[in-house]
Amino acid sequence: MHTEAEILKRTGGRPVEGVVYDAERLAVRVRELGAAITAYYPDGELLVLGLLKGSFIFLSDLVRSILRPHQVDFLVAASYGSGTASSGAVQLVYDPETVLTGKHILLVEDIVDSGNTLNRLMRLLRTRGPASLEICALLHKRIATHLEREPQFVGFDAPNKFLVGYGLDHAEDFRHLPFIANLKE
Ligand code: PRP
Repeated sequence: MHTEAEILKRTGGRPVEGVVYDAERLAVRVRELGAAITAYYPDGELLVLGLLKGSFIFLSDLVRSILRPHQVDFLVAASYGSGTASSGAVQLVYDPETVLTGKHILLVEDIVDSGNTLNRLMRLLRTRGPASLEICALLHKRIATHLEREPQFVGFDAPNKFLVGYGLDHAEDFRHLPFIANLKE
């Protein structure tokens, strides 16, 4: 449980509407996801790719729950306006230095909203010749009209609200919260 005083202290008094997933619930679900991922990949090289910045806390907890050898790297995608969303183009500000070819790639996202980010990245990563390509998303709003690929692993079906904390931001604030809350609309 997170008290009102704790929440206000952490946010500097900026009001959040309420806690949607508290730290304990997140920890339990992340351990379950780690167990499911461990069971899903019996053989071969596994590379867990975290999409920054939103996935940074989820990723760090998740990899410690995956009980098999794997490598960890990151992706940083350039932000585009909505005008380029359907073009299929994506530019990586940081491109993984590890070789992707022939490895099982697990792309880790904090949240699937419109699905545009995932769709662009899936198209790009497919060109790198991975042995397999799956997605693990902590939150899935289930509002995307088209997804190139549904995430194989989903933490929670999330409400269609402005969610912050546990890596998710509003104008770069709130990422540090150990829980996920929704902002007042
Ligand atoms: C957010 C979030 C997802 C993406 C989901 O990233 O972290 O990556 O948007 O939205 P979509 O499904 O509509 O594409 P953002 O671009 O805000 O960058 P961040 O990860 O650095 O916060």
